[in-house]
This record gives sequence, structure tokens and C-alpha cells, in this order.
Amino acid sequence: MKVLAVNGGPRKNWNTATLLKQAMEGAVSAGAEVELINLYDLDYKGCISCFACKRIGSKSYGNCAVKDDLKPLFEKIQNADALILGSPIYLGMVTGEMRSFLERLIFQYLVYDKNYSNLNQNKIPVGLIYTMNVPEAYLDKVGYKQMFSTTIENPLARTFGETESLFVTDTYQFDDYTKYESSAFNEEEKAKRREEIFPEDCKKAYDMGYRFGKR
Ligand SMILES: Cc1cc2nc3c(=O)[nH]c(=O)nc-3n(C[C@H](O)[C@H](O)[C@H](O)COP(=O)(O)O)c2cc1C
Repeated sequence: MKVLAVNGGPRKNWNTATLLKQAMEGAVSAGAEVELINLYDLDYKGCISCFACKRIGSKSYGNCAVKDDLKPLFEKIQNADALILGSPIYLGMVTGEMRSFLERLIFQYLVYDKNYSNLNQNKIPVGLIYTMNVPEAYLDKVGYKQMFSTTIENPLARTFGETESLFVTDTYQFDDYTKYESSAFNEEEKAKRREEIFPEDCKKAYDMGYRFGKR
């Protein structure tokens, strides 16, 4: 049993990375092998629209033809039993790196036939951990759940079979709020949330990892 975690954020010890590490600990406690990949360590771009993955007779039919750092990662995903993707929300979406990775991951398996069938053979659960500044009470107002369901979770579910999402809101953003212009936020409330709610979010991530690792 192998659980692969992918961090779509640039920071390796902050909110997103912490939650992914918790998920991996959960998976390990269920007996799984784990590996964490940081997208910001890799050299790649988004889909270049070459359509080699759709060209009839192409040796890359159903596979991304671009040879860069995503190629070995796609192979790892084909050999994984579960995948957990984590990303901060930047300007209302997962990071550009996560988005570019998802374009390439998903599009290669999508067939332009009448049914839009799918060539991915490795059906595995995909977990999504989103971290963001917006408070929980604003989640509906900003429409993130609906938007990510349409743009991320549904395409992933069509490719891999199923997804599960964790929304981690109102995250602590800097090491010291006094050093940054941050009058938009109430630092005390942020610190309180980090102390009281973030550990619960970590537990949810751990439980996701455990569930995936157990299957
Ligand atoms: C460039 C940038 C854009 C951001 N845009 C948003 C946003 O649109 N919505 C939001 O809720 N948080 C936004 N944030 C806050 C981050 O999503 C949030 O702090 C996240 O937890 C950071 O993850 P990290 O601690 O793993 O780096 C933004 C942060 C940065 C640096």
C-alpha cells in the first residue's frame, strides 16, 4: 500500500505541508508506505497543447508526451494506491504550480470520444487538502467549495474514481504578525484559531491519511 502526497505550495513547513505530513503519519500508522513530493522542487510547465496524448497512432496516446519532471511523478501516481494533494489557495484557486500539474495529470487520460471516456487504469482515492486565509463563515460567500468541485474534484473523480476534500480556513500566515502590514486581520483571533482549530484540522488530515492507508 503506497500513499503519495503532493504539496502544491512553496512553503515546506507551513500550513499545507504540516497537514500533508499529518496525513502521511496517518497513512503510516495504517501500515502504508508514504512519499511526499514538493511541486516547487520540480521543473515543469502546464499543458502545451501538443495533443500527442490524443493523436491516433501516437506512441504517447493516453500519456503526456512532455519529458520533464512531471513524467516520473505521473509514473509514481500510476503505482500509488492513494493520492493526497495539498495546496494553498492563491487568488481564489489552487497555486499555479498545482494547476499546471493538474492540467497535465488529468488531460492525458481524457479521450475526446463521444463519451469522453478515460484511459487511466489506476483507480485510486484522491484526497484534496486546501488551505486558505478566508474564515470558515465566508466559504459559501466566496464560492470556493462549488468552484473547486467543478474545476478540480469532478475532473479528478472522473479520472481516478473518487475524491475527498478538506477545507482548512483562516490559516496563520506569518511567523510574527507585528512585522507585516496585516491590519485586515485580528491577530489574536488568528492565533487562537491556530491554537484551537488547526490541531483539529491536523487530526482530520491524519484521519484522511489513515483511511487511505488502510484500504
Ligand atoms: C499569493 C497569495 C495569494 C493568496 N490568495 C488567497 C485567496 O485568494 N484566498 C484565501 O483564502 N487565501 C489566500 N492566500 C492565503 C493562503 O492561501 C493561506 O495563507 C495558506 O494557508 C498558505 O499556505 P501555506 O501556509 O502552506 O503557505 C493567499 C496567499 C498568497 C501568498
